[in-house]
Amino acid sequence: MKHIDIKALFTAPDNYLNAEVTVCGWVRTWRDSKSIAFIELNDGTAFKNLQLIIEKDKTDESEVKPALAVGCALKVTGAFIPSERNGYELSVARITVLGACPQDYPLQKKHHTLEFLRTIPHLRPRTKFFEAVFAVRNALSFAIHKYFNSNGYKYVHTPIITGSDCEGAGEMFRVTTQPWNANAKTEQEYFSADFFGAKAGLTVSGQLEGEAAAMGLGKIYTFGPTFRAEHSNTTRHAAEFWQIEPEVCFCDLQDIIEIAEDFIKFIIKDVIAACPEELAYFNERVEKGLLEKLNGVVASGFGKITYTEAVEVLKKSGKEFKYPVEWGCDLQTEHERYLTEEYFKKPVFVTDYPADIKAFYMKLNADGKTVAATDLLVPGIGEIIGCSEREADLEKLTDAMNKRKMPLDGYKEYLDSRRYGSVPHSGFGLGFERMLMYITGVQNIRDTLLYPRTVGGL
Ligand code: 4AD
Ligand code: MG
Repeated sequence: MKHIDIKALFTAPDNYLNAEVTVCGWVRTWRDSKSIAFIELNDGTAFKNLQLIIEKDKTDESEVKPALAVGCALKVTGAFIPSERNGYELSVARITVLGACPQDYPLQKKHHTLEFLRTIPHLRPRTKFFEAVFAVRNALSFAIHKYFNSNGYKYVHTPIITGSDCEGAGEMFRVTTQPWNANAKTEQEYFSADFFGAKAGLTVSGQLEGEAAAMGLGKIYTFGPTFRAEHSNTTRHAAEFWQIEPEVCFCDLQDIIEIAEDFIKFIIKDVIAACPEELAYFNERVEKGLLEKLNGVVASGFGKITYTEAVEVLKKSGKEFKYPVEWGCDLQTEHERYLTEEYFKKPVFVTDYPADIKAFYMKLNADGKTVAATDLLVPGIGEIIGCSEREADLEKLTDAMNKRKMPLDGYKEYLDSRRYGSVPHSGFGLGFERMLMYITGVQNIRDTLLYPRTVGGL
């Protein structure tokens, strides 16, 4: 179908000025009067709509009438002309309705609540809000690849189906082809009859396989879907979310913290440059001061505090927390948000957590109690990055696994990396949707995913 993207018209208007062009798109809104009709057309390539001007005495009424319907798909030919109000518009000569849109189309009104739009995920990409979300999602993905690609990292694709639970928190979805009523006397009998002949699940993290790749490739990153069967019904948890996980050899905790800060600043800067219209929209409609916040993050250093110091800060805060704070407790969202929003008022790395509340693979510090790990907390959200230096010592690693009663034979390949040429190495996982929430100001993770999957509903 010969036509031109609306984005091309707005990007290089001089190339098309006063020429006849053909565009396609959907009717976002329309207005009609006696002699003239207006249609706001959007084809998804440009954030801005193209205004169509239809002078009724110059166009065939039988063509115009069916086109005046919200949601209707059109092919339109006309002259691309300057306009005082809109910059440019299209003076219509011919209209073809590609797909009619009857009155029961649910997006008739200009504004709908996000809650309502969650009930129609298949239609919401046709709204301004979601057009902006998905444009920024696209730009953010691209920025992430750009950062790693230009810094010598190799993009690796770790498996989605796996037999090992990286985080060890028992939050894996099972993958099986067994019938629901399969008969088995023992667990072993049940799983040996299954597709892989063993228990399998959807990955919670690509880290373990990413570490194996880094041991040969030096610096790698993954960028893919990860799955967690957490029953956390919050605005920040999804059962299916995307994670970016770099793994870097010859790198300790301080080095990886520097990399993480540099990376976050780079991707924010890149998205600001790539999506000015979308971010202006979020700044106006979703989070006042968003742009100032993002520019501030890029321009200043992140905070840094140890877990032990953070516990003291929280105890002295005079705040009534729902979960009281004691050394050894896991920090709850309310604690994380106090630290980043009220105490530091900027992103902050909390380092050196108690070993007992963190995953088995983290390097034990010299104190024997804490691990070389950090979470990056940001205002409005809490944790967006989980990061650590990995335990490179075989004996200490197996100790940590035994303490957690982990089956060592299930991790033989992982342990091989500590047997054969083990090196200091570190990595982190950035939650992609949480980063997107931070950049756009969007409050609910369900509004950053095309089809959100959360506990209790597909
Ligand atoms: O802190 P987590 O559990 O760390 C890991 O998975 C490590 N293996 C990462 C690594 O070192 N390679 O998860 C990393 C990040 C969190 O900081 C959070 O941003 C995000 O993933 N995340 C979720 N995002 C949405 N919904 C959920 N249920 C999430 N769980 C974690
Ligand atoms: Mg974490």
